[in-house]
Amino acid sequence: MNIILGDYNDYPSLVKAFSGIDKLLFVSGTDLPNRTSQHERVLNAAKEAGVKHVTYTSGAFKTVTPSSPFWLFAEAHIRTEQWLKESGLNYTLLKNGLYMDYLPYFIGNVLETETIYLPAGNGKISLALRAEMAESTATVLTSEGHTNKTYHFVGTEAYGYEDVAGYISEITGKAISYISPTEEEFRDSLRKTGQGIPEEFMGIVLAQAQGDADITSGDIEKLIGRTLTPLKTFLQGIYKA
Ligand SMILES: NC(=O)c1ccc[n+]([C@@H]2O[C@H](COP(=O)([O-])OP(=O)(O)OC[C@H]3O[C@@H](n4cnc5c(N)ncnc54)[C@H](OP(=O)(O)O)[C@@H]3O)[C@@H](O)[C@H]2O)c1
Repeated sequence: MNIILGDYNDYPSLVKAFSGIDKLLFVSGTDLPNRTSQHERVLNAAKEAGVKHVTYTSGAFKTVTPSSPFWLFAEAHIRTEQWLKESGLNYTLLKNGLYMDYLPYFIGNVLETETIYLPAGNGKISLALRAEMAESTATVLTSEGHTNKTYHFVGTEAYGYEDVAGYISEITGKAISYISPTEEEFRDSLRKTGQGIPEEFMGIVLAQAQGDADITSGDIEKLIGRTLTPLKTFLQGIYKA
């Protein structure tokens, strides 16, 4: 194995790291305010280094505009997809939805509060396990037939927090309720407890409220050749005593 450092902020290091590489798995950056320019740098460097195929971990959302709560995440994905399509490189887009693994972070200490308190309204979100997305990614990278294709790495069903509360109630025997405050009420409640307001978190919840996260697909199942882990099974693993 050969490890070469390529920094998304350092163009020459990227060209050097990509030299001799045919196929690149490009994982979207974590530096949200700067990642659009980082991604442009990565794609330019890939082209200069002679990379033939870029597989990119994009985001899954229904519709997004600059005024959408998802824009903080979506902007870099939308631009990167566009640049890739115009680049002349072969590409595969893996549009990742929210990891199911992150759900407990969104609903907080629900066994203590017995309430899910989030401004997601009746909006639904489609979730898949990170391990199942990773397995699908590995399948795409190690098999043929994926050139210039787009896959949606999301669940086959979308759920609202009413459903999540119902499942946890069944699993634990506690009556878990779901309350959807307004955005302002929610922000106030976080301020009062002295917690910061993570804008990435808010963006996902508000986008869900607007229906932008309600997007389902059988792509992962087709790629890994089995049924996805259902939400209820995942929740049983977390909340069953
Ligand atoms: N779909 C979802 O639910 C979901 C959830 C979380 C994250 N994400 C997205 O997935 C992507 C990765 O997030 P993560 O949570 O997996 O992050 P992570 O564990 O911190 O991994 C980020 C990776 O990127 C590398 N990296 C960071 N800055 C870099 C730079 N300037 N140049 C080159 N490499 C750099 C890191 O390298 P080192 O290990 O060397 O630091 C690390 O390998 C992000 O775009 C994030 O928005 C999606």
